[in-house]
Amino acid sequence: MDTHHLDNVTTTTSVDITSEFRHHDPTTARINNGSFGCCPASIMAAQQKWQMKFLKNPDRFYFNTLKPSILTTRHLIKSLVNADHVDEISIVDNATTAAAIVLSHVTCSFFNTTFKQGDVALILHHAYGAIKKSLNAYVSRAGGHVIEVPLPFPLKSNEEIVNEFKKALEMGRLNGRKIRLAVIDHVTSMPSVVIPVKELVQMCRNAGVDQVFVDGAHGIGCVDIDVKQIGADFYTSNLHKWFFCPPSVAFLYCRKGDNVSELHHPVVSHEYGNGLAIESSWIGTRDYSPQCVVPEVMEFLSRFEGGIDGVKKRNHEKVVEMAQMLVKAWGTSLGAPPQMCSSMAMVGLPPCLMITSDCDALMLRTRLRECFQVEVPIYYREPMEGDVHPITGYARISHQVYNTIDDYSRFRDAVNKLVNDGFTCSVFSK
Ligand SMILES: Cc1ncc(COP(=O)(O)O)c(C=O)c1O
Repeated sequence: MDTHHLDNVTTTTSVDITSEFRHHDPTTARINNGSFGCCPASIMAAQQKWQMKFLKNPDRFYFNTLKPSILTTRHLIKSLVNADHVDEISIVDNATTAAAIVLSHVTCSFFNTTFKQGDVALILHHAYGAIKKSLNAYVSRAGGHVIEVPLPFPLKSNEEIVNEFKKALEMGRLNGRKIRLAVIDHVTSMPSVVIPVKELVQMCRNAGVDQVFVDGAHGIGCVDIDVKQIGADFYTSNLHKWFFCPPSVAFLYCRKGDNVSELHHPVVSHEYGNGLAIESSWIGTRDYSPQCVVPEVMEFLSRFEGGIDGVKKRNHEKVVEMAQMLVKAWGTSLGAPPQMCSSMAMVGLPPCLMITSDCDALMLRTRLRECFQVEVPIYYREPMEGDVHPITGYARISHQVYNTIDDYSRFRDAVNKLVNDGFTCSVFSK
């Protein structure tokens, strides 16, 4: 076993990390698990077995194997997230699909006049771009009014989030308006912080918000999920980000009793009308193997000390350690305190790099990839009035079991070289 690995595997486990991730490009320091996740070799092999089962005898697979396999996955997820009933768990392609299911349901409530024109939907300013667009496509077009909750960055405490959310709830209810939906991230993507989701859901309940959808795309394997404690109506998480499934598969939890029978998969097939979980289990002929490998993923996780919780805990500790190493080396600071980090952390980049736009951030990311073989997303933060030498660029680093200290050292050295060479984004954007 590679001794450079950051203690993710203890002597009590038998996972050969190097072998499990031998398909990763060895020339690249991959510190961006957050975007696309990872899939170990043993899970890819399991996926191929599922694909072969289908190709060997598609009829038998369709009639005998597929539904029971997806049901097994739903049971496993139900236990992992503490849902009450397996019917509350549907397996879908990804978080974007889950959002489409929830939001098209909301749209129907506008069309059947349960909701009125101008009723409000809240979403965090730091929400994922595709989900914001979904909200506009479904809810704004149906006559809903979308309010974005502004959030400061860098963040110092949960209190800042709670205060902004409180103000948005008040604004949403001005002049007797009704807030029909709140979309709340569990872990925001960019900039990445853990949101005090349980507290915000409770605030929604107290304010009479009709429905709450938690976008936990990064959730499972990254932060603790207890859907009963969180208390939202809907919660989705990708399984291909932090849960080692191949792309792509997600679950959508829909709390029982919340008009679940009115929820439908956007792709309509033979199972239409048989409940969302069953509708989702057949949306036409396609590859269902990512949905079938969850038992094998559970077996993979059980080989790590502490299982999924152990992996999650060590990833958090290591990403914080690496983030602190980087800010110390560059004389900058973290975008959020350690307790607000998940398995991802925002690391301030030296101001002398002069990142002044989203375009600069993307170009720096490209340069890090092409000249230094470092794969890491960069966030541009607009300076506030009165900021002196503001940090305008933050890197979102991730830690997953395959990462080594060398990955982060390479990133540190790449940035140091750019700084020492007098590189600035303004020069390089010309
Ligand atoms: C917070 C958040 N929501 C939704 C998504 C969409 O996930 P997918 O592209 O797998 O549907 C992402 C993807 O990174 C995300 O970070």
